Amino acid sequence: MERLVIRGGRRLSGTVKISGAKNAVLPVIAATLLGQDNVTCLDEVPNLDDVRTISEILRTLGVKVRHDIANNKLFVDATTIENITAPYDIVRRMRASFLIMGPLLARLGRAKISLPGGCAIGTRPIDLHLKGLEALGAKISIGHGYIDATTPNGLKGAQIYLDFPSVGATENILMAASMAQGQTVIENPAQEPEIVDLANYLNIMGANIRGAGTNVIKVEGANKLIARDYTIIPDRIEAGTYMIAAAMTRGDVYIANAISEHLKPVIAKLKEAGVSVMEDVDGIRVVGNGRPRAVDIKTLPYPGFPTDMQAQFMAMLTIAEGTSMVTETVFENRFMQVDELRRMGAKIKIDGRTSVVEGQDKLTGCQVKATDLRAGAAIVLAALVAEGETQVGYIHHIDRGYDNLVQKLVSLGADIKRVDS
Ligand code: UD1
Repeated sequence: MERLVIRGGRRLSGTVKISGAKNAVLPVIAATLLGQDNVTCLDEVPNLDDVRTISEILRTLGVKVRHDIANNKLFVDATTIENITAPYDIVRRMRASFLIMGPLLARLGRAKISLPGGCAIGTRPIDLHLKGLEALGAKISIGHGYIDATTPNGLKGAQIYLDFPSVGATENILMAASMAQGQTVIENPAQEPEIVDLANYLNIMGANIRGAGTNVIKVEGANKLIARDYTIIPDRIEAGTYMIAAAMTRGDVYIANAISEHLKPVIAKLKEAGVSVMEDVDGIRVVGNGRPRAVDIKTLPYPGFPTDMQAQFMAMLTIAEGTSMVTETVFENRFMQVDELRRMGAKIKIDGRTSVVEGQDKLTGCQVKATDLRAGAAIVLAALVAEGETQVGYIHHIDRGYDNLVQKLVSLGADIKRVDS
């Protein structure tokens, strides 16, 4: 099993280029299932395990997928789809696999998908996805670990109110509604930049979606969508992770390609902590000025502070001056990084959905494990400033969502390597 070996204490400096967004590329790859007539070429596709997983799912459906990793391009030929079943063996690895439900229903009128797995961060039901698809006319039955959905009378536009602005549910509904008959209105949808990216891509394919990124989305169904090329937006969570690396190591890093508009709450909180953040049209420069100050954060759906940055921000707060409160409202059980950070000397108390972090002068390196994707990123950040050597195990979690992490950190001056144990 591979692990990361990190020696802390290096100040990071230089430029790092952000890759395409994991959470944008996964729904866009699912949406390629809607594209007829041509081969799709997606650009800025990151080299991630999650991309390999969704590609494997498409291949089980009989779709041709080729990832040109050297050029960040992914080619998908979905002109014919031979199969409608996504099996447990693949789906259990990644919850986002469920995103193929909407497109398969729209294109073929049937989808059979194993109940999803993914990170162990809370119960993560899929009731909102199913409620939305049922409102559009899908008939759903659940048995033997599979969700079997059909559209006996086709998909018809509907008025859908989401009880919670779920990202995945909004995406599944958007993709299904793009080919439903008539108008769909989604109230209280997710407003994340990845929703806007998916809507832009669907519109290029011939869909008619207005309002993505606001609290009401309107979709006029189209009869047919045509495969088109598309470039994925930069990953705001990867960018945020490098911003914190710069702040924690008292470094000076230019995060090229980052879109500051997508990172407003992270930038605001870093500034509040005393970190210098300078934004321009091509990226963001972050300069760490000594020890950061304690700040409180609370995760919320976009445009609030992203839950996917909570663990990394907490890593920074473990070495801040003073005591911070970190409140997680989006997921239950998303403090998986806490035990590992404690092993490194962090002082953190958990009280329900809030953690109280008492900043320490220093952390110390030891053996730790990545317990999920973002918790893994938090451990790596802590290791960059910890005294001595840290060994991080279970790094397959990190490989799900960080393109070239080791090489990017090495290019900034970090002492990090990947070793086979
Ligand atoms: C997506 C992101 C993930 C991010 C999350 C929140 C992708 C591939 N993943 O996940 O990185 O952390 O958004 O920003 O884009 N919920 C329900 N019923 C549902 C669906 C969700 O109760 O049918 C709940 C979940 O349990 C959770 C909350 O809603 O508590 C947010 O989930 P959701 O926005 O759906 O996240 P994902 O789309 O799974």
